Amino acid sequence: MKANIKVQPIILAAGKGSRMKSKTSKVLCKIANKPMIGHILEKTETLSRTYTLLQSLIVVGYKSEDIIKAFPAKNTSSYKYIEQKEQLGTGHAIKITTNLIDHDAIVVVLYGDVPLIESETICSVINAAADTGFGLLTVKIDNPSGYGRIIRSEKQIIKIVEQKDASPEEQNINEVNTGILAAKGADIIRWVDQLSNNNSQNEYYLTDIVALAVSEGYQISSVHPKDEHEVLGANDPKQLAALERAYQLAQAEKLIAKGAYIADPHRVDIRGKLTIGAEAHIDINTLFEGDVIVGDRVNIEPNCIIRNSTIGNDCQIKANSYIESATIGNSVSIGPFARIREDSVFGDNSKIGNFVETKKATLGKDTKVNHLSYIGDAKLGNKVNIGAGTITCNYDGKNKHQTLIEDEVFIGSNSALIAPIKIGKGATVAAGSTLTKEVKKSDLAVGRANQKNIQNWKKPKDR
Ligand code: UD1
Ligand code: CA
Repeated sequence: MKANIKVQPIILAAGKGSRMKSKTSKVLCKIANKPMIGHILEKTETLSRTYTLLQSLIVVGYKSEDIIKAFPAKNTSSYKYIEQKEQLGTGHAIKITTNLIDHDAIVVVLYGDVPLIESETICSVINAAADTGFGLLTVKIDNPSGYGRIIRSEKQIIKIVEQKDASPEEQNINEVNTGILAAKGADIIRWVDQLSNNNSQNEYYLTDIVALAVSEGYQISSVHPKDEHEVLGANDPKQLAALERAYQLAQAEKLIAKGAYIADPHRVDIRGKLTIGAEAHIDINTLFEGDVIVGDRVNIEPNCIIRNSTIGNDCQIKANSYIESATIGNSVSIGPFARIREDSVFGDNSKIGNFVETKKATLGKDTKVNHLSYIGDAKLGNKVNIGAGTITCNYDGKNKHQTLIEDEVFIGSNSALIAPIKIGKGATVAAGSTLTKEVKKSDLAVGRANQKNIQNWKKPKDR
């Protein structure tokens, strides 16, 4: 039934946000490494699951070119920009969109700098508007200073009074306007047309449409957010940091609610999408970026950074490891202090120990690189053992070359494998070798200077 409801979001993002002290638009300031306006666009897109979603209208003004560059609008985009050259108030911002508003749709007004609003809360404002003709999101807060106050008669909301226009008694009211509201397109158009700027700020206040709706006999239906953070704006770096913390805590708590073991929800940061398997444990100070999938029963020790990677089941990610664009199989052990770079693909039961760096490296099953190695542009088969300090010398100063190591090869410690090179199946490389030539299947390669001992060596004397 709700799918019959057409919904058209309008996102206000024209303000300068001078307190942010940023050279660019405030709405490009980031929460979890994503611009605030990006969070809002993501939320509006989820509305299509419930309603018939029309193209969102984004009102931009200050540094609009930066916003449009960061989020380009194509004909097929779910949003469209409207330029507000002069910021004459929230009512004016809506007024300049009226020729694009669908008369039959429910218009929902959102803000580019209020990024943590939950989809469910937006839906409840829309549903309230579908019920009574006007949905308004309000919240009771301890310090209402700066906000528009909700003025109620005994029976209902009658108007909103801005802080600067409020009487001392009105200033004592702690139910405030979040700014988020919804009403039918045709009504919004009619109301914003009647706004005046006859107030202390000489602005066209969108909030004045509440009194206009009431004068037409509408019942304003107020709804409230589940959590106060949902409606908080970020006006300065301090508030931005507070929103970041609130966002991070909420994400960690959502994962915990689904059964994840997170040692301290205050000490995990997720900048992107994290999917965690059953009984996975995440210790403190771990940062997840981009798309990360962690399998069942994985244990992640403190201070790891994991970016755009997939980790299979039963893996151990030991402390202080850095993993980027990697695909890791099941029962793999990594770290402590490992650096796994792009296109590292590790087979089941493989092991990467401390101070090992890998890049464009494929490791087969049961292959081990336990200590102090660089494995780059390399393909290693199954059951390979790489001794401590082994380097694949992949770069000749101009080009990168491949190292191919077949199944069951043993490479002794401190070997330099100068690529391009191939080490055949079951071959052994003596410790300390520098190899430039192919080693055939099952051969032993000794590529080091012979040791010479000089008997009864006279030590140099002090002069
Ligand atoms: C507004 C509300 C207030 C509410 C508060 C919640 C009005 C008149 N007041 O006040 O009741 O408690 O939000 O945070 O609406 N904007 C434009 N164009 C403009 C003016 C503003 O796009 O011409 C955008 C701003 O970028 C900002 C948002 O609208 O994202 C709110 O504007 P702002 O001036 O911050 O409103 P407040 O005074 O905080
Ligand atoms: Ca203002």
